[in-house]
Amino acid sequence: MKIFAHRGYSGKYPENTMAAFQAAAKLPIFGVELDVHLTKDNQIVVIHDETINRTSNGSGFVKDLTLEELRRYDFGSWFGEEFSGEKIPTLSEVLELFCKTKIMVNIELKSDIFVYAGLEEKVLREVEAYGMEDQVIISSFDHEAVRRIAHIDPNVENAALFANMILNVVNYQKEIPAKALHVALPTAVRKSVLEAIQQNSIVRVYTVNEIEHAEILLNIGVDAIFTDEPEKMLNFMKQR
Ligand code: G3P
Ligand code: CA
Repeated sequence: MKIFAHRGYSGKYPENTMAAFQAAAKLPIFGVELDVHLTKDNQIVVIHDETINRTSNGSGFVKDLTLEELRRYDFGSWFGEEFSGEKIPTLSEVLELFCKTKIMVNIELKSDIFVYAGLEEKVLREVEAYGMEDQVIISSFDHEAVRRIAHIDPNVENAALFANMILNVVNYQKEIPAKALHVALPTAVRKSVLEAIQQNSIVRVYTVNEIEHAEILLNIGVDAIFTDEPEKMLNFMKQR
């Protein structure tokens, strides 16, 4: 079972910051996960929420702020004073770090409230600029976006994210089409997901921070887990 550091090493560093990604890059993990939004001036930035309220000392929607404006805020202090001065990263900065490694990068296209026109194309262009087509997985809860990735570049791995049950997940996956399924922890143990695993679908599960849960998922045969605690999960896998 492979380990993805969720939002970087977010258990010990402020999520989706270079500090969290640099810490993750030092670990023998299979992959790292991050979230992207578009700024007012169409730059791809790495942040989970559609606003900067929770993870910075500023406020407002990412889509209403330019990259220059976003860079003025501190994205580290909310997590711990020792991280003060952390800036919001661009996707390009994170790709620059990981292109020198063998670590897979799972880029989650966010579309919680707003749909960012052309985000799929923009992300693919940046991935291509770093020659990382084989080193990324592009996922989204927006399955139209997952479909568009398959259409624009069928060679790039795409993944459908879902938190709730889908009755016939294997047919659904083919219909999109998606190369992998990224499912929430409680959904992973449902019948249709277990059937998908038996039929060799790649199933990855978020967010797994407890050893007891990792143990169950390992027995089920999931491909990977997303965790805020990559060192803890690496140690668990080492002892197996
Ligand atoms: O990509 C897996 C997981 O990160 C999806 O949920 O809310 O943590 O982005 P969330
Ligand atoms: Ca995510």
